[in-house]
This record gives sequence, structure tokens and C-alpha cells, in this order.
Amino acid sequence: MDTTGIHFIDEFNLDEEMTVLIRVDFNVPLSGGDVADDTRIRAALPTIEHAIESGAKVILCSHLGRPQGERDSALSLEPVAARLAEIIDTDTLLYDIEVVFPENILGPDVDTLLTELNPNRQIMLLENLRFHPGEKAGDEEFAEELAELADIYINDAFGAAHRKHASVYTINKFFDRNHRGAGLLIRSELQGLGRLLDRTESPYVAVIGGAKVSDKLGVLKALIDRVDTILVGGAMAYTFLAAQGIDVGNSLVESDYIDEARSILDRTRVQKTDIVLPGDHCVGASIEATEAHITTDATIPEGQMGLDIGPKTRERFRSVIASAATVFWNGPLGVFENPAFADGTIAIAHAIADADAYGVIGGGDSAAAVARAGVADQIDHVSTGGGASLQLVEGKPLPGIESLRPNYPFD
Ligand code: 3PG
Repeated sequence: MDTTGIHFIDEFNLDEEMTVLIRVDFNVPLSGGDVADDTRIRAALPTIEHAIESGAKVILCSHLGRPQGERDSALSLEPVAARLAEIIDTDTLLYDIEVVFPENILGPDVDTLLTELNPNRQIMLLENLRFHPGEKAGDEEFAEELAELADIYINDAFGAAHRKHASVYTINKFFDRNHRGAGLLIRSELQGLGRLLDRTESPYVAVIGGAKVSDKLGVLKALIDRVDTILVGGAMAYTFLAAQGIDVGNSLVESDYIDEARSILDRTRVQKTDIVLPGDHCVGASIEATEAHITTDATIPEGQMGLDIGPKTRERFRSVIASAATVFWNGPLGVFENPAFADGTIAIAHAIADADAYGVIGGGDSAAAVARAGVADQIDHVSTGGGASLQLVEGKPLPGIESLRPNYPFD
């Protein structure tokens, strides 16, 4: 992946005289007001640690969830600030670092706290940027006000790099090329995922799951030209099976996308790309079913829903993955939050971990699955980005990264 012109945080001479604003992606799941999975917070630690050690004043900012441009107390970053402080304490050599959390994103209280911030002891995390309508709108005025807080801007929010939002895109207009750059997480994401664009070894196998064909059209179309085999699972497989005229019972089918699914199947034939659909399934009466029944073939009986790939399909997918040199996986193969239908997804996590292939997991549910299978550290690259990783693998530019380059033609 070409990173020409992008400065990374360790190439800046940060010092005590400077303030650095770091855009992180702390869009983490919450449960009962607490952080339920802190993977994304941990992933930003190397950049945060580097910035603190430089002696500069450090301001972090992030979005959380999808509030509608106004304060929503359920989506405050306050619990994230608390978890960040704990993690800095336990996982780094830094100690006694306080995470100052102003109630607002901008304004006099933030300015005062910033003036008084002790860079040896404190960092600041701003409140959820999406409480301001300007964030999602990519608003220039909001971006400029954020920019005025700091001398240097660092984007380390890989998960949000596909968005043209104020804090990841527009803000770059207000820093010249020597004052804007990327963090260490973005560097590792570009290296890990970039290898899928630059130097893939064959056989290259893509495992694509998830609920909807409509969400994965772009990546499927792009992958047909690049990979040797596509293994399809998750609910989207039923739209493909329906497109082949196979009975899928009550399974989730996107009727509006049956023609698209058919044209993808046609294109795989033209490109001589193998596409493998499930040949058997674990089915139940609803997604809450507590017991899985296994079908004998690809047909799903009336009144039943396909909820996971069946054991024969699991084995077939495993053996394709075992002989791959490169594997990319995005999207669960079944309703893996229900233990009765989790086996297919967990089996694929193990298959990728066990294979000799260069393995990349594209964020979200698949990353949670490899963590749950206990194999995350046996995978070459587990991306923190969902939509961003798909867009990158599709070969489409990420605005939050492209706009860091010199002479970027902002619109
Ligand atoms: C993600 O979780 O994919 C990123 O944080 C982006 O979030 P968004 O889809 O709400 O923009």
C-alpha cells in the first residue's frame, strides 16, 4: 500500500511546546454503561503512548455510536475515558496518567482545561464528536474549531477513515502537510490490509458472510477479479441460493437483490473464480431457536430458517482454507451470537488460524469471533475497521487517509 507523502506520528519532532490532537476510533460496544470490548482502545495505545512520551499536550477525540447531532447521554465517551485510564495504567509503562474529560467538545471549559493541562500527568479526551451536527456533515467551521485546539493533527481512527466527517477528513484542510499525519494503528492497518492489494499469493481465498448481499456487493464484485475462491456464508448465502432456484424455506432473502446475486454468479463463471455456497445448513424455526437441525443438502425445509453453515460445508470451507496462501474473511457464517448457531463461524476462525496462509480478518463480528475462538494472536492481521477495511480491500481510497497526503484536492 503506497503511503508516499503520509507522515506518521513517529516522524514528527513532537515536544513540550506542542499540542497534538489525535483522532481515534473509540466507537466501542457498551453494555450497562460500561465498555464491553476494549479492543479498539488498546489498538490506539501505541500512538497515545508515543504522544505522551514526547512531552506534548495530548487531546484525543472520537465518535461513539450514531447520535443524531445532539447530546445523548447513553453515548457519552465518559466510560471510555475511565477504561482508557485503566488501560494506560495496566498496559503501558506510564503511570498516574489522568484522562481529563470535559463535558463538551469545544468551548471555554475545554480551553481552560487545555491551558491548565499538565502533559506529564494528564491527557484530555473530548466528548463524543457526533453530539455536534457538524461532525457527520463534514462541516468546515466545526473542523476549523477542532483544528484550532492543536498544532499537530494525527489521524489514528482507521475504523472511521472511510467517512468524510469533519474530524477525519475536513480537518486536514486546516493543517499543512507538515502538521498532519497518521498514527501507528493506521500504519499497521495499511501494512496488514495493504498486502491484500499489493502482494497476494495464490491461492487467494475470500470468506464473505454477514446478513446482507446489499452490504457486500462492492467487495464481492471487486474480489471476483482478485481471488481464486469465494466462500459464501451467513444469511447472504440464502439470497444466492434463491437466485439458483433452491428452496430456502423461511430464511432471510433480499428479494430485491436476487438479480444482483445472479449476475455475481455469472461473473464468477466468466472470471473463472470459484464461488462456493453452503451445501448443507443448521436450521431452526427462528433465530432464537435453541437447537440446530442439520439439513442433508442445500435445500431448507418449509417453515425453517438457515442459521449457520452445516458440518459438510464447514469441512469443505476448512479444506479450501487449509490449502490457501492468502485468506481474507469478513462477516459471520451464521447467527453466532446464538450458541446453537455459532459453530460454523468459530470453525472458520480456527481454520484460518491453523492455515499456513497469510490471514486477514476484516473487523466487526469476524474480529469478535476470532477473539471468542481464542485464536486472534494466530492471525496475521485482525483489522479494527469494519466498513473501512472492506473499502480498502475493494481497492477504493479512504478519504481520511488520502486527505493526509500533500496537495490533496479537497472538495
Ligand atoms: C465502525 O464501527 O465501523 C466505525 O467506528 C465507523 O462507525 P460508523 O459506521 O457509525 O460511521
